[in-house]
Amino acid sequence: MARKKIIAGNWKMNMTPSETVSLIETLKPLVKNDEVDVVFCVPAIDIIPAMEAAKGTNINIGAENMYFEEKGAFTGEISPDMLVDAGVKYVIIGHSERREYFAETDETVNRKVLKAFEHGLTPIICCGESLTQREQGITIDWIRQQIKIAFLNVSAAQAEEAVIAYEPIWAIGTGKVATTGQAQEVCRAIRDCIGELYGAGTAEKIRIQYGGSVSASSAPELFAQPDIDGGLVGGASLKPDFGQIVNYKTAKQQ
Ligand code: 13P
Repeated sequence: MARKKIIAGNWKMNMTPSETVSLIETLKPLVKNDEVDVVFCVPAIDIIPAMEAAKGTNINIGAENMYFEEKGAFTGEISPDMLVDAGVKYVIIGHSERREYFAETDETVNRKVLKAFEHGLTPIICCGESLTQREQGITIDWIRQQIKIAFLNVSAAQAEEAVIAYEPIWAIGTGKVATTGQAQEVCRAIRDCIGELYGAGTAEKIRIQYGGSVSASSAPELFAQPDIDGGLVGGASLKPDFGQIVNYKTAKQQ
């Protein structure tokens, strides 16, 4: 069976709670498309108003981060139960900005992934190489290592539910989108790596997104690649362009 595409916005540190409500009001008629899963990953404080604003639509609300402990003295963190109670289904784990600015490592990513599954949340697990690593020719080795550590002790049943987002760091927020060939090559390598870990059945089911300067004009070709099952979209997810990205098959390209 064909994998259902999953197109997620990552709002990053943008939008106040009231701005959230008006952005969702603007976007909700534009992102209607039952053929794909549509997710808005929003800042923690925006989750409740976003959930309210998205009620009765095809928009799923996701979180941008989560801590790996249950509860307690972890000032400023958000627990898995808090997300579940708020109605969240998806949570981004290990975004390169979290790794770079907030000292997240492959090991903490793995702990968060395990915790997310324990609570029935679907992690969107991010991986990606820097420009230096790409130029050194170690992209695939690097990504394979990130994936292997992220999936330590994750069962096959859990793994097939996971979403992986391949986001080359040099393509994030730079307007420098990876070529479809580059994106497909790495997404294929990720699927092969999952196949080695869990077998071909799991590899065929897991969904792999591309992220990094996805726009209304680049989405159709990227999402047509055999191993790219949608996108994780930053800047363009805050604009009506996101409607065109979600409707990449039918939207009129400018
Ligand atoms: P941009 O789409 O703004 O490049 O951001 C990509 C990203 O980091 C999504 O998680």
